[in-house]
Amino acid sequence: MFLTAEEQDMLAGGQGKATRKAMQILVALGTIYGAERMLPVTSVQVAGVSYDNLGEPGLQFLQEMAEGGGQARVLTTLNPAGMDVDAWETLGISPEFASSQRRVLDAFAHMGVLTTCTCTPYLVGNLPHFGQHLAWAESSAVCFANSVIGARTNREGGPSALASALTGCTPAYGFHLDRSRQPSLCVEVTAGLEACGEWEESLVFGALGKAIGDRLPESAHPPVTFIRGLSRVSLEGLKAFCASLATYAGAALFHMEGITPEAGSLKPPAAVIQIGERELNLALDSMTSAAAEEVDFISLGCPHLTIREIARLAELLAGKRVKKEFWLTTARPTKFLADRMGLSRIIEDSGARFAVDTCCVVAPIQGRFHALATDSAKACYYAGAKNGFKTLVKSFDDVVREALQ
Ligand code: F3S
Repeated sequence: MFLTAEEQDMLAGGQGKATRKAMQILVALGTIYGAERMLPVTSVQVAGVSYDNLGEPGLQFLQEMAEGGGQARVLTTLNPAGMDVDAWETLGISPEFASSQRRVLDAFAHMGVLTTCTCTPYLVGNLPHFGQHLAWAESSAVCFANSVIGARTNREGGPSALASALTGCTPAYGFHLDRSRQPSLCVEVTAGLEACGEWEESLVFGALGKAIGDRLPESAHPPVTFIRGLSRVSLEGLKAFCASLATYAGAALFHMEGITPEAGSLKPPAAVIQIGERELNLALDSMTSAAAEEVDFISLGCPHLTIREIARLAELLAGKRVKKEFWLTTARPTKFLADRMGLSRIIEDSGARFAVDTCCVVAPIQGRFHALATDSAKACYYAGAKNGFKTLVKSFDDVVREALQ
C-alpha cells in the first residue's frame, strides 16, 4: 500500500516506539483489507475502556503505548469506562477495580486522549461533519456517525482506533469508500411507527432495529439497508435505532429515506423485506424474559441520555421516591448541564442515581442483580449476554413507573 513520506517515517520508528506500533497495526489492517493508501482522520473514538473488558493485558498494552511516547494527533474521546470516575464508591464499585480503572484512564490521558467516557460523543463535542473520515469504535456511535451524520468510519477495534489517534490516519477501505456505502437491501416499514408517542420512540425504534436484525441471515458482512416508510424520528429514536441495528444486525451503516443525508442520492435496491406490526411485536416480546416482580435493577441511558431525556426524568421523578436501584447513565458534560439546570437535584432527591462515564453493561456488576428493566434493545442483549441478567423492556416513561412501584 502507498504510504506518504511522513507515514513511512512513522513506520520506520522515526516518531517513537508507540507511533511505530500504531502504524504497524494500521498497515497490517490495510494490507488485509486491500487498502491502497491511508486517509487522514478528523476524529477518533476509542472503545475497550472498561477494565472489566480490558483486564491486565489490555491495561499493559495501553501503558506501553503511553510510555512509548504515543500522543493523540486528532480529537480523541473514549467510550464508557467501568465506573463513574467520581461516584464509583456510592455505586458499589470496589476500590481494587477503581484503582485499575483509574490506571486505564491515566494511560489514555497521558496520550492526550480526552477522557470523556461516552458512547454518544456526538452529543458532547466530538461531532463530525458530513463526509469526514473518522476512526470510531463504539458500534452504536459508528452507526450514528455513518448513517445520521454521513461521516465515514469503519467499526474499529480498541487498538486500531488508538492507532489512528496516534498517527492521525486510517487505511482507506470499507465504509470510507463510496462503493461500500451503497445499499443492497430495501426495508419497507409498514408498522405505523408514526403513531408512537414521543417517549415511546427509544423502545419502538430499538424494536425496529431488532426486527430488521432478526430478518437478516447471519453474515460477517451484513447488507447496507435502505429503509423506507418512516416520515419522522427524533434524535433519541435514532440513537436507540443505531444501537439496536448495530447489535442485532451487525450494521455500521443504513440509509433512511427522507431522514439520513445520503439516502436522497441513492437508488432503492430491488430486494425488499417488510417489517410490519407482527415483526415489531415479535421483536419486542423476544426482549423480555423477566416478570415485573423479578426486576431489581433499572437503568436508562443506553446509549447515554440526552439532556432532553434527563429533563423528562426530572419531570417524572419530581417529588417521588424510587423503590429499586435505578441508574441513569450519561456523559459527564451532559450531567454538568443537568446540574446547571437544577435537574440533577430533582432526580437525585428521588433516590435515582446518576452513573456518569459508565453504563449498566460495562460496569462490573455481574452477580449483583437478577433482572434489569430498560427501554434499550441493546441493553437487553448485553445485560443477558455479558451479565446474565433477565430483562424487561418497556417505554422510557414506563421504565420510570417501574422504578416507582
Ligand atoms: Fe453505551 Fe453502554 Fe449502551 S456503551 S450503547 S450505554 S451498552
